[in-house]
Amino acid sequence: MGEPRDAPPLSGRPSPALVFHQLTQLPATGPPLATLRVPCQQPGRREQVRRPASCRSFGPATPEVDAAVRAVADVVLSRDRDGRKAYPSAGGLYAVRGYVVQSYARLVTAPGGSHQPVLGAVDPEEIRTATFGQVAGQPNWLVLTGSQPDYQERYGLRGYRYLLLEAGHVAQCLIDEAGHAGLRALPVGAFDDEGLAAAVGLRGTRQLPLYVVAMGAEAARG
Ligand SMILES: Cc1cc2nc3c(=O)[nH]c(=O)nc-3n(C[C@H](O)[C@H](O)[C@H](O)COP(=O)(O)O)c2cc1C
Repeated sequence: MGEPRDAPPLSGRPSPALVFHQLTQLPATGPPLATLRVPCQQPGRREQVRRPASCRSFGPATPEVDAAVRAVADVVLSRDRDGRKAYPSAGGLYAVRGYVVQSYARLVTAPGGSHQPVLGAVDPEEIRTATFGQVAGQPNWLVLTGSQPDYQERYGLRGYRYLLLEAGHVAQCLIDEAGHAGLRALPVGAFDDEGLAAAVGLRGTRQLPLYVVAMGAEAARG
């Protein structure tokens, strides 16, 4: 299912980040992402909403955590017998892809099929750098990507919006399923598009990084 890892570099092609700016016509300027502020957590306020708070401090990478995250990703990203997945997708296009960075095995896998192809080796530290060091410990990383033309073909420019909305649904499903599996998670929107694409092996493909979910065991409280 993955695009070839040895695709030619991006020379002559618009970079994933630039595609977004062209579509939205927004200037590629603004405050540095790394200065985004995270509000303080208010303990005890989510009794009715059963979602655990976002986690920014994870335990060490282990084979068990790799396996548990892989299972979560597979449940969410696999198709059922009718060809549907766990999350809604406009027109059933399912244009969002998920890649799992397994921090213990140091591999990128593409979940959701009857087997989980290994796409290549990865240095999890590069993912930490591309996400501006916002997360402590050694979570796995789910990198959600999409091919904008897949949606644009059917829905015109509105397809861009649908692609992002679908990525949000996938991320929420992953977060919920992580909770059921006893794992913790953090959705990450602030990252270096180019750095992330390079670290996961997506440069030169049509896949744009859209959203990241860090997932793993919570760090032991000291
Ligand atoms: C689109 C989006 C992007 C986010 N990006 C980041 C991020 O880059 N870094 C981070 O620490 N948290 C990020 N978050 C998590 C929010 O900061 C977090 O959900 C919020 O502080 C509320 O806390 P809670 O999830 O524990 O309820 C993001 C959340 C959303 C919905």
